[in-house]
Amino acid sequence: MIRSETQGRVARIRFDRLDKKNAITAEMYAQLGAALAAADGNPQVRSLLLHGSADCFTAGNDVADFLNVPRKLGASPARALFDTLPNMKKPVVAAVGGPAVGIGSTMLLHCDLVFAAPNARFQLPFVPLGIVPEFGSTFLLPLLAGYQRAAKLLLLGQPFTAQEALEAGIVTAVVSDVIGEAEKAANALAALPPESIRLTKRLMRARYAETLAATIDEETRIFTERLSSPEAKEAMSAFLEKRKPDFSRF
Ligand code: COA
Repeated sequence: MIRSETQGRVARIRFDRLDKKNAITAEMYAQLGAALAAADGNPQVRSLLLHGSADCFTAGNDVADFLNVPRKLGASPARALFDTLPNMKKPVVAAVGGPAVGIGSTMLLHCDLVFAAPNARFQLPFVPLGIVPEFGSTFLLPLLAGYQRAAKLLLLGQPFTAQEALEAGIVTAVVSDVIGEAEKAANALAALPPESIRLTKRLMRARYAETLAATIDEETRIFTERLSSPEAKEAMSAFLEKRKPDFSRF
């Protein structure tokens, strides 16, 4: 479940489903999109803070949902997040401790400042799951990290450390008190001239907004096709059955 509250001029949005490592269900995407839109439209709010617990940001999309929730081609329950986070007028600060898997990593590419704890573990396991990367990451990650580094993270899909995320440009800083530091940054942003912040964000993003939106749509179409592929079914069933997947017959 997604929890949100406003503290002073900062809106805090938190993943709270620790028994499943904060894996995001269809219902949670809707809650997250609604919380982001509400904070962006609330005149009291000047900045946002997005976090999980100190030991777990989010394990990404709920894998059982991938297998069980039917989708129309090109449609995604994450659409509520795709349509809000990249277009936020107010600055979004993320605090990552522990796992940030799949969309838990790709959503960071749309935040403004990202703080990671030394225990943060990032992973983009779309290829190992038989699907393709989403949320504009096939465009944004090569842009941020350079093609070769992005290819390593997206094609191999292995976990990587906070330091590697810093070197790839996904993370702003690695700090031990991750939620505390992110809170300080969100408060600092909230004290700055809001219109100047809004305009600067818009200027930094305007040049690639159209390409980003087109990439998200194309990725979503291919992603939903891949969800019903035998490769994806084998990979996801293997995760839920706690066994190694076997791709030798494909
Ligand atoms: N979807 C659904 N359930 C998930 C999940 C996910 N993305 N991630 C974790 N869980 C569940 C596990 O099935 C387990 O449930 P159980 O207690 O009912 O068996 C519980 O959360 C704890 O997970 P576990 O794997 O035992 O924790 P861990 O600390 O050993 O590992 C992760 C944590 C995040 C590294 C590992 O859970 C993982 O790799 N998760 C899958 C991430 C993923 O592939 N996400 C989709 C990306 S597109």
